[in-house]
Amino acid sequence: TSTENKCWGECMDIAVQIAHKAGKVVQEAVKQEKRVSSKSTPTDLVTEADQQVEDLIISTLREKFPSHRFIGEESSAAGEKCILTDEPTWIIDPIDGTCNFVHSFPMVAVSIGFAVEKELEFGVIYHCFDGTLYTARRGHGAFCNGAPIQVSKERDISKALILTEIGAKRDPATLEIFLGNMQKLLSAPAHGVRIIGSSTLALCHIATGAAEAYYQYGLHCWDIAAAAVIIREAGGCVIDTSGGPLDLMSRRVVAAGSREMADYVVRQLQPISYERDDHDPSVLS
Ligand code: IPD
Ligand code: CA
Ligand code: CA
Ligand code: CA
Repeated sequence: TSTENKCWGECMDIAVQIAHKAGKVVQEAVKQEKRVSSKSTPTDLVTEADQQVEDLIISTLREKFPSHRFIGEESSAAGEKCILTDEPTWIIDPIDGTCNFVHSFPMVAVSIGFAVEKELEFGVIYHCFDGTLYTARRGHGAFCNGAPIQVSKERDISKALILTEIGAKRDPATLEIFLGNMQKLLSAPAHGVRIIGSSTLALCHIATGAAEAYYQYGLHCWDIAAAAVIIREAGGCVIDTSGGPLDLMSRRVVAAGSREMADYVVRQLQPISYERDDHDPSVLS
């Protein structure tokens, strides 16, 4: 209904305010000494700032929207179940690009997405180093610092810049498939393939048309939720690596300015399997 739609607009305004506030905390934290530890693997880094920023975002939102649900990277790491219901749900990555953050490599973002009845309603991504704000609300267009953005309509792979990311899993079999996929695209030949260390910012570059396509195995729902709305509202497509519809919990994605470009990338990829974000560890797979 229109009252609900109005409400999501107000939620989005609040998300923008919180993303700014969280981004400022990250900007300050980058200058301090970082206490770094690792989670699932030695390259899966986490710092005190990750947890602090997530607490700040979730506690502020929970106070304003006590009936809403929250999925956040660090809460999930602490054992909270990552299940998307029909309830209004905030999907949060407090610091996307923790490894970059640790090295002060300037590609770090705060990402806040929002879904209702499993449909993504809006996304807000704040680039903590340069202060760029990417926003989109379903049906209302996509913006970078308030100016409308549009994807690249290039369909020809030989004129494309492709982005991808490698997750924390680095066993030889995973690396072999990862490199094989990259080799396919490099020898297409695409103009280039880039890894910037932040899934959300890479996806924002698809939304602005700075690159033609993005693919990744191993990302999480909080890496894609906000960015998916931004790309779609900028005229692009976000799909599963099989070519089917995006499944937020599936840990894989292809995004592109044009459907043709997305389909081309889909055809090149050999899959890498990851455990779903919504898997239940008490059920043996
Ligand atoms: C990670 C980054 C990285 C990507 C990983 C993500 P984090 O997020 O976006 O570039 O390769 O898949 O998990 O852990 O820094 O929020
Ligand atoms: Ca992480
Ligand atoms: Ca992330
Ligand atoms: Ca993160």
